[in-house]
Amino acid sequence: MSSGKRSLHGRGVLNRQKRVSVTMQQAELFVRYARLADAGAISAITAEYARKGIMLERSDENIIENIRNFFVAEYNGEVIGCCAIAFYTQKLAEIRSLAVFNRFTLKGIGRLLVEKAEMVLREEGVTEVFVLTLNRNFFGRIGYSEISKEYFPQKIWRDCTHCPKLMACDEIAMVKKL
Ligand SMILES: CC(C)(COP(=O)(O)OP(=O)(O)OC[C@H]1O[C@@H](n2cnc3c(N)ncnc32)[C@H](O)[C@@H]1OP(=O)(O)O)[C@@H](O)C(=O)NCCC(=O)NCCS
Repeated sequence: MSSGKRSLHGRGVLNRQKRVSVTMQQAELFVRYARLADAGAISAITAEYARKGIMLERSDENIIENIRNFFVAEYNGEVIGCCAIAFYTQKLAEIRSLAVFNRFTLKGIGRLLVEKAEMVLREEGVTEVFVLTLNRNFFGRIGYSEISKEYFPQKIWRDCTHCPKLMACDEIAMVKKL
């Protein structure tokens, strides 16, 4: 995935799923840096899960402000998934706002997005990446281990002040060495 482009016939992507249509198999999947024009799609994908309380809502302004930190998965010209990176120290970063449109989940796209983000972080010299998530199983599958939130410096909690679940946080921290 180093080129950021991968055929849907590739290992672990879509072809493992019997329900994938022929049309989908003929197309190509791209994971690439987000562009400003993707802000609306990123907003739609994350809003779907924010409404269900699965992830933190990000305003359009916040997405636009941080657009250079986002990656998107594009399939047949449609943005179907996204994630973002946030740096805390020269060695520590977070992967956040990871989401794949519901109808495209369990086809390897979440994994590809995380792999792309990890590759970029490695290139930057980051040695440790963490996530705050409700999805222990997905991140466990891709090599992340649960860790106490106290392990991390206070500054990683900067977003928490805006979170409606501030006093009843149910997210866990998971970490991976790069
Ligand atoms: C989490 C999410 C991004 C995963 O994306 P995805 O494209 O469905 O994941 P993948 O298909 O790449 O799955 C990779 C592996 O994790 C497993 N997996 C994915 N979601 C899982 C789940 N909810 N429970 C258990 N295993 C899961 C897959 O079966 C696959 O396993 P494999 O290694 O045996 O092939 C997607 O479900 C999503 O958008 N969820 C809502 C938002 C969210 O929870 N974001 C997390 C960060 S806050």
